[in-house]
Amino acid sequence: MKASITRTISNANINQTGQSAPPFGDAPFDGQILNPHVEQFASFFFAGELVKIVQKNGAWWPSKHAQTIGNALAQHRHVVCGKQVFDLATGLGVLGILAKKLGARHVDASEYKQEFLDAAKFNANLNGVDFRDMFLEDWLNFSPKTLYDLMIANPPFFDVTDPNRRTYIDQTIRNAPRFLRTGGELLLIHSSMAGFAETEQQLDDAGFHFEIIASDRGLFREAYFSSEAGFIEYCRRHKGFDLVDDLPIEELRVYLCTLTALAKISHEPSGSAPVATSVEELMFVTA
Ligand SMILES: C[S@@+](CC[C@H](N)C(=O)[O-])C[C@H]1O[C@@H](n2cnc3c(N)ncnc32)[C@H](O)[C@@H]1O
Repeated sequence: MKASITRTISNANINQTGQSAPPFGDAPFDGQILNPHVEQFASFFFAGELVKIVQKNGAWWPSKHAQTIGNALAQHRHVVCGKQVFDLATGLGVLGILAKKLGARHVDASEYKQEFLDAAKFNANLNGVDFRDMFLEDWLNFSPKTLYDLMIANPPFFDVTDPNRRTYIDQTIRNAPRFLRTGGELLLIHSSMAGFAETEQQLDDAGFHFEIIASDRGLFREAYFSSEAGFIEYCRRHKGFDLVDDLPIEELRVYLCTLTALAKISHEPSGSAPVATSVEELMFVTA
């Protein structure tokens, strides 16, 4: 089956800096492996909203996942408009920049390498917006300075070296409540290959109400087959992928997850949370 996967990736639309022509052409296809040492660029359209991105410093190029969650955000503008937003692991900044262009009040962003934050900042300038704060941090292993209305997350999965490949998804669901105000929202995307059933159970356990606001189906990226262990894992997942005409098809889902008051209470670090003994008190202490 591996051999029968059609090559869908094309270099045709890649531009490179140094050309005198107007730089921002079509986005490269999903899964494009970009040379981190070459500055490449593309325009991404999210329901008509334009974000220009330059590849810099080897930061993660926006994939089909980013395009799908970005489109969902642009089509649900009320989720972001006027809100305090945290763009977790911003990569080249595409989703945070989009959030700001869609009317977010502030957008903060994080990454684990300074050069990635620099690249995101460069792209924000290019689009005429800014990030308020940028945090050099390992995923969500830090304490937020403020609580957010919205956290946007497109966690790594297929290129994760941890034997538990869901590790970033699991950590996101577990830690997001520390970063969100009561009623705040987590916008999360991942593939069927990471297992939707596990995610939905964990969201439930963490006290989120959730709905699927967008989904998409498409061919696997070739890069998914770079690891034999990964391939075995995708095969094991319940409905990890479908075969259509012998071609592997994955589903992407965008979850909009709302943090309930009860969940917020249970995630406060012990000792710091006011204890509620009634529903009325609960409303009061979480307000
Ligand atoms: C799937 S990419 C998403 C990037 C961007 N949000 C987007 O949608 O295009 C995952 C991002 O997680 C970042 N990352 C990986 N491990 C990390 C860690 N331990 N702490 C913080 N960020 C990490 C990567 O640098 C990468 O930018």
